[in-house]
Amino acid sequence: MSGMINLPDTRPQKNTPTFWVRNIPVYGDVILSPMAGFSDKPYRLICREYGSAMSYTEFVSAEGILYGNHRTREMLEFDPSESPMVFQIFGNDEEKLAQAAKKIEALGPDIIDLNMGCSVRKVSGRGAGAALLRDPAKIGRIFRRLSRELSVPVTGKIRLGWDSDSLNYLEVVRAMEENGAALVAVHGRTKGQGYKGQANWDAIAEIKQAANIPVIGNGDVKVAADIDRMKQHTGCDAVMVARAAIGNPWIFRRKDIQQVTLAEKAQLIYRHLELMLDFYGPERGLVMFRKHVVKYVRGLSHMAQVKQQLVTCTRPEEFIALMNRYEADAEARAARTIQNPAYRIQSTEFKVAG
Ligand SMILES: Cc1cc2nc3c(=O)[nH]c(=O)nc-3n(C[C@H](O)[C@H](O)[C@H](O)COP(=O)(O)O)c2cc1C
Repeated sequence: MSGMINLPDTRPQKNTPTFWVRNIPVYGDVILSPMAGFSDKPYRLICREYGSAMSYTEFVSAEGILYGNHRTREMLEFDPSESPMVFQIFGNDEEKLAQAAKKIEALGPDIIDLNMGCSVRKVSGRGAGAALLRDPAKIGRIFRRLSRELSVPVTGKIRLGWDSDSLNYLEVVRAMEENGAALVAVHGRTKGQGYKGQANWDAIAEIKQAANIPVIGNGDVKVAADIDRMKQHTGCDAVMVARAAIGNPWIFRRKDIQQVTLAEKAQLIYRHLELMLDFYGPERGLVMFRKHVVKYVRGLSHMAQVKQQLVTCTRPEEFIALMNRYEADAEARAARTIQNPAYRIQSTEFKVAG
């Protein structure tokens, strides 16, 4: 029909790998992006259940790995069902990065990834994260060493450059792939931009054109339709979602949060809480869950006061009772709406008319 545009169907086919990371098949084209404080085992498991195609840990410091602290070990815990499992590391020292990567390879990840995108001063101010982008030769040396010394594929996550005067993404990707990188994930902003402005999807398309390794596009996927929009715009092999996935794993099913019922949300809240309590223990688990709760309940009516109680209660039973009561009240409100005379008039009119 004239005027209709037939866009190619870019959704992944079941049972056929969407792309490969060297010898590792990936089934699916939407992935939970690594996020410090969020991409822990409980939330990764939930996102995988909802369709995220791979698991990335949050970034883990090479020094932390070498000193072997408890928090680092916790960040690297994973479930075998999470395969392909990616451990993401950061650091600025080539020797320490190599030693740390070898040490954690023994824990059994499928892939090790180098963070070259973190913009926070504590990281990039010390030459790690996005600061590595200023030195593509160093990136080349790190990838050469890691890909020689590790048996698992080595990948990297980058930004477009340090700032708008040094957009060296093509040079960085070349240095990576010439030295053995098996995939690149690209957040379409510079370090200087932080999270401001719009992610540059044209630059991601340029990288996809130039690269011989799979490219994951990232930045500003906000609603389900953006997944296919980014794929069509850039040709990338898969899309990573960070901020829009907090409190919204439905995005991995390409379902928008407005389509999610209260019952579905509540069910997920109970399940996520259970995983948090299992993983972190009852006290810490509940406290760590609070940042997710505020995102899950966003937009729910009559929630303001309940939310306050949900994020301050100190016992899981209390949390569950509060949530149960909120659900019961919401049901009662819905029933009252149905019995409302105004609604009855409407339905009678409908009957007469019909
Ligand atoms: C709270 C938070 C923590 C993040 N931590 C990491 C991290 O550990 N490693 C990483 O590569 N990127 C990290 N990022 C960046 C995201 O993975 C992603 O590249 C960025 O948020 C852009 O994607 P978005 O527009 O979907 O949010 C983090 C982002 C946020 C908001």
